[in-house]
Amino acid sequence: MANNRTFTMIKPDAVANGHIGAILDQVTKAGFKIVALKYTSLSAEKAGEFYAVHAERGFFADLVGFMSSGPIVAAILEKDNAIEDFRKLIGATDPAKADKGTIRNLFAKSIDANAVHGSDSDENAEIEGNFFFSSFERF
Ligand code: CDP
Ligand code: MG
Repeated sequence: MANNRTFTMIKPDAVANGHIGAILDQVTKAGFKIVALKYTSLSAEKAGEFYAVHAERGFFADLVGFMSSGPIVAAILEKDNAIEDFRKLIGATDPAKADKGTIRNLFAKSIDANAVHGSDSDENAEIEGNFFFSSFERF
């Protein structure tokens, strides 16, 4: 079951630009079922915790600043082969390199403000989902 789920965030840029509905539409049309959903925000401290794996990277401070700059949408999604299929749906980290029609190609403007997050492994999907959702908030 674990490998049928991934975790995503619609990042502050996409929320601010009014793309929540369009992105969720792409996600559900691609066959993902929303099993948890939350409109919330990250404090700088929480953003740092979420991205702790990148703490040594040059872009970390900017990433934390950006991810705590406004509201986000967090969600757990279910589908066969969820991790890989969702990474395919969102496209490359740098929207300039993202395939045509991917969510980052359509909605992102830069490598830092790149519209969406997608988990990179079953293990991280589990950790990231638990970061936002209690057992009462997932279906
Ligand atoms: O999000 P993804 O898994 O595709 O990329 P990552 O390598 O795990 O990096 C996490 C996030 O850090 C990215 O989505 C970008 O928002 C940001 N980042 C950045 O600002 N500059 C980079 N050179 C690489 C990543
Ligand atoms: Mg990543």
